[in-house]
Amino acid sequence: MAAGRRQRNVRTVVVLGGILVAMLTLVAFSVPLYRLFCAATGYNGTTQRVVADAGTISRRVVTVRFSTSVAPDLPWRFAPLQESVKVHLGEEKLVYFSATNTGTTPTVGHATFNVTPAKIGLYFDKIQCFCFSDELLAPGKTVTMPVDFFVDPALDKDPEAKDVDTITLSYTFFRAEKPDDIENLSRFDPNAPPDPVRGAKLFAERCSGCHALDRVKIGPPLGTVFDRAAGSAPGYPYSPALRHASLAWTVANLDRWLADPQALVPGNKMPIKVLEANARRDIVAYLEHIRADRRTTAATAGAAPAAR
Ligand code: HEC
Repeated sequence: MAAGRRQRNVRTVVVLGGILVAMLTLVAFSVPLYRLFCAATGYNGTTQRVVADAGTISRRVVTVRFSTSVAPDLPWRFAPLQESVKVHLGEEKLVYFSATNTGTTPTVGHATFNVTPAKIGLYFDKIQCFCFSDELLAPGKTVTMPVDFFVDPALDKDPEAKDVDTITLSYTFFRAEKPDDIENLSRFDPNAPPDPVRGAKLFAERCSGCHALDRVKIGPPLGTVFDRAAGSAPGYPYSPALRHASLAWTVANLDRWLADPQALVPGNKMPIKVLEANARRDIVAYLEHIRADRRTTAATAGAAPAAR
């Protein structure tokens, strides 16, 4: 009888062990999945900031309208450059707003935003927005600011959102009371020089979910990508399309790749784009900068890279 009980105990241990392995596997894979689909870098009340777009584009179209206002004590003019846009659910869209400091001193503003109907806020995903930080604007300056967003295709599955065909996005700029981590709106100036420091930030927000500098992640390592031949990082399982694309990662090719990977190398498997030109410019400057750093570091055998 002891033998029978031992057998049952062994079976219980095996079953529990199996469950444990299954759970660990799930946990291990949920990290890349999480990074890939919903790496929110800041949950900002009503809307979410995300790294990659939703991947699937649905046939359903919604109209997104824009409205803006400025608090009375902030001497800024602030307006959308388009009244509304039509987007497919899941389609990444770039829209622009213009801000002018009509005062005589530099001022720091902070934007808040609101989505109506309120139940839609959860589905409104921003990739890039000036509304995440305190923003400095020089007197007399006008800047055009991008917002890069998509509406989550999951909206289509929400019975409460069946009737929704128009979404309104409202921004209000306030004077920042205790400015913190100030960003300069001049970064959106198309004539500004490339900024590798901003590029590093954008890389962390928008690329690092899939790319590391010196190891394979979901994508190939990018620490030495600048000037490298496409599809040539050792140990990475490239798509045949990218492996056989005969191009080098120059400034121009990196810019075209980030603007639309499928247009440059049809059939490759990188699922995102960077719609905004200044963001691409700065990310590419960062990739060029770290590549140069790595060369210097190698040449001077371990000397500290330039502190940027
Ligand atoms: C959701 C995952 C994902 C994100 C986010 C992502 N990439 Fe990629 N990237 C990939 C994959 C996968 C590949 C390989 C594509 C292939 O083999 O077809 C790739 C390839 C590349 C390559 C080609 C490298 C080579 O060795 O030829 C470059 C350059 C690149 N990515 C840059 C970026 C930059 C810059 C960003 C951030 C703006 C970014 N990627 C964001 C998944 C991603």
